[in-house]
Amino acid sequence: MSLTAESTVPSEDFVPPYPFRYEHMPPIWKLIGMAKKNFLSIWGADDFKGRLRSQKVLSRELIICNRPDVVREAFKTNHEALQRKSPQMRHALEPLLGDGLFVSDSQTWADRRKVVAPIIHGSRVPGFAPIMVETIEETRVHWASKGDGAETDALADMAHLTAEIICRTIFGRNLGKSYAREVVEGFTDYQRHIDQIDLISMFGLPEWLPRFRGKAIRKPVKRIMDVLDEIIDSYSAQKEAGEASVIGGLLEARDDDGNPLSRDAIRNEAAVIFMAGHETTANTLAWAWYLLSQSPRVAAKLHAELDGVLAGRVPSFQDVRNLPYTKAVIEETLRLYPPVPILAREAIEPTRIFHKEVPKGSLVMVVPWLMHRNPVLWDNPDSFSPERFVNPEAKKPNKYGYVPFSIGPRICAGLQFGLTESILSLAHLAQHFKLALKPGTDVQPVARLTLRPGEDLPMTLHPRTQ
Ligand code: HEM
Repeated sequence: MSLTAESTVPSEDFVPPYPFRYEHMPPIWKLIGMAKKNFLSIWGADDFKGRLRSQKVLSRELIICNRPDVVREAFKTNHEALQRKSPQMRHALEPLLGDGLFVSDSQTWADRRKVVAPIIHGSRVPGFAPIMVETIEETRVHWASKGDGAETDALADMAHLTAEIICRTIFGRNLGKSYAREVVEGFTDYQRHIDQIDLISMFGLPEWLPRFRGKAIRKPVKRIMDVLDEIIDSYSAQKEAGEASVIGGLLEARDDDGNPLSRDAIRNEAAVIFMAGHETTANTLAWAWYLLSQSPRVAAKLHAELDGVLAGRVPSFQDVRNLPYTKAVIEETLRLYPPVPILAREAIEPTRIFHKEVPKGSLVMVVPWLMHRNPVLWDNPDSFSPERFVNPEAKKPNKYGYVPFSIGPRICAGLQFGLTESILSLAHLAQHFKLALKPGTDVQPVARLTLRPGEDLPMTLHPRTQ
């Protein structure tokens, strides 16, 4: 390993895969075809370097913010004008989440944010951590039972783990355990039916044009709503005393006038938290396993930290602050493969960003996929180097240049939850196992609703001896 004179991250680190970056923009019909297959392949080399780009696509102005100062202006200073999620996101998720926090805006969003954010806030995470740890330990036991060299789908395993964790924290240990499978199947079914890119909305065609999936998603939505109703009823009946649970918080929450949330609101917010908190964390962990499997240098450093701090014991919330390199591995994974690769907003009133007029109806995007690999902001931007997050001299932008959890008033309400869950999962499992990529597997990033390493991630499990 060497450090170049001007760089503070190792220059020979592993460069994980990314889609081909064209030098000359292909014709628009070709771009649309590429976007439909994999949205990430529409970016050319210049898109990574730019500061602010704008382009009219059919009738809609499309603006991309790609530097911290511009991102701050768009998502913080201009929050009022740019707080609405893109039509694409709303059409995809409204049938399931209704007026839930994730897709609402204006007064509804502000009211819900005030009630929901404190329930999953960082200060509540120590109370949720024992549920996380107990669920991670179940995965360790399951992996251990499979034996050395056993094949596993690391993406499915991490999806199962994070779904169990979020179900048990939302609904309480017992209800969460009984209903996890039903909830996961409902959501998976739903996701299968929603388009990756709603090109109708993206290109500003009339909102009344038919979308083709209308009927197909009614069934999974009803299934999810029925399960959530059943869970809420049994929760109200059982009230698991003393245990931190999100549903308990939602049932007991009161607005400024002292009114409780309606049944619909509780159901919608429970669906939001499940949806927002499950696949994002699963993808982060799956990518981390992949990156570690390709980077023996980083894996060795991670193992040294885990063996030194934990020495084989099950980690607890208090250990997290003593695992800076483990945290850096997660942060670097989130930089290279941000689970939400595109943050898109629709201007609800005309505004300006960086002296540029933004007409009402424009689509304004912050694209973590681009900004996290902007060569002006990062050294060796495509390489996997967790050191950049622990080395104080390493080049990194301010908080508006690294936005895996978004930024501004709509920043992820589960940031500390997701980070802690990822660190505890990686810490506990990586001290007991090494995962190797199944030979011949071609891993490529694919953007659906979230950014994942393809449909599956075949790996083999190898117990470690400390
Ligand atoms: C590594 C894990 C996670 C990542 C990378 C992540 C990322 C994000 C991002 C980028 C957004 C904003 C999306 C947008 O602007 O379009 C968001 C919103 C949100 N996230 Fe997370 N998230 C993670 C985990 C979680 C967890 C575990 C929870 C719940 C326990 C959660 C709850 C939420 C909620 C409620 C919102 C909506 C906030 C609002 O609109 O006001 N997230 N998340």
